[in-house]
Amino acid sequence: MRASDLILKKRRGGELTREEINFLVSGYVSGSIPDYQMAAFAMAVYFRGMTGRETLDLTLAMKGSGDTVSLHQIPGIKVDKHSTGGVGDTTTLIIAPLVAAAGVPVAKMTGRGLGHTGGTLDKLETIPGFNTNLSVAKMIRAVREHGVAVVGQTGNLVPADKKLYALRDVTATVDSLPLIASSIMSKKLAAGADALVLDVKTGDGAFLKDLEEAFELARTMVEIGTGAGRETVAVITGMDQPLGKAIGNALEVEEAILTLQGKGPADLEELCLVLGGYMLHLARKVSGPEEGREKLKQILAGGAGLQKFKELILSQQGDPKVVDDLSLLPRAKVRVPVKAAAGGYVHAIKAEAIGRAAVWLGAGRETKESAVDPAAGIILSRKVGGRVSRGEVLAVMHTSAPPGTPELEAAGRMIREAFAIKSEPAEKAPLILGYVDRCGWKRY
Ligand code: URA
Ligand code: CA
Repeated sequence: MRASDLILKKRRGGELTREEINFLVSGYVSGSIPDYQMAAFAMAVYFRGMTGRETLDLTLAMKGSGDTVSLHQIPGIKVDKHSTGGVGDTTTLIIAPLVAAAGVPVAKMTGRGLGHTGGTLDKLETIPGFNTNLSVAKMIRAVREHGVAVVGQTGNLVPADKKLYALRDVTATVDSLPLIASSIMSKKLAAGADALVLDVKTGDGAFLKDLEEAFELARTMVEIGTGAGRETVAVITGMDQPLGKAIGNALEVEEAILTLQGKGPADLEELCLVLGGYMLHLARKVSGPEEGREKLKQILAGGAGLQKFKELILSQQGDPKVVDDLSLLPRAKVRVPVKAAAGGYVHAIKAEAIGRAAVWLGAGRETKESAVDPAAGIILSRKVGGRVSRGEVLAVMHTSAPPGTPELEAAGRMIREAFAIKSEPAEKAPLILGYVDRCGWKRY
């Protein structure tokens, strides 16, 4: 087999066999196929697409390129959750303890933030002492004892994706449906859960801005999960604004705690209940996602989710007192309001711009090596549907940059421009747009 023949075959719209796909992936990881051939192949896939069978085979080849985690020492059905690149998406911090409190084991492997999206690890590490660096054996022990663990990716999981994603990033081949689906699903399959709930974002700030494309991505990922023997459900959710009010690491931990106390923003709470409801359903704890949602609502109201979050913090060497005393979290010294230049109703808040502004303030990484300021971020004072007068506060910037610096000015401008304010009243942005499972799909 020769890589150049396979590139040509795909360029002409042909369907590659499993052996051909395995040859490309293993050759790329071992170094016998160079970057320039893989880049040409990725571009051919971008234009020609892949069949469902090819996409599944690509996913399985990538999954098999490194270590895989086995969770079979944890009794019960293990359900994982994944969100495709949200801004201010605090859901994992809330869903993991909530679902664990309902008796479903949660063994969560998660990543750091890159670009305009935040990472769960960076958020958890703002809790004094919290250790995300657990071996797989320790993670499994923690889940057996406490029902929940949230850890950084360990071992050599899916090296094919690390290499291919970096290549796609610089060759204009990130936004290819089969390449996104296989990238996400290979990592989820390698992490070992029995079933999966996917939160596929659409709108500004998401990888795929278009609703049709989001459904197509959801269908592709559900097909891969099902084909790989893991029950998979996808929920399509809107990103016409950041989720909740907080964007930034410690600010989002605070928001998660408030939500577990029943005092969180409505959209964030609702999304957690819906996604968690599907997780309970896939874990066979309830007879349907709606019943799962109701069960979690009761658990939330009774405070068991908050109690489980404390237990999770304690089991990973963090200081559980933060739950009762939010001032133990890192706090920004500088707080600068961003005010509305004109009055009206908020129709949209561009999530990607808000995410980029948060990076300017120090909350995110420009490159993999940059350090994050745990206290930096943004608190939105207004959400879509809200009314604002000229000069009123739209958002508050939290940073350690002294007032008046160019970064702060730039972030303030970005935030102001991210708000679409018009004179006519705005409807609240719909949050749940549809779902896809192995039997079909539904649009709300
Ligand atoms: N997230 C991933 O992990 N991979 C992609 O290709 C896109 C988003
Ligand atoms: Ca948030």
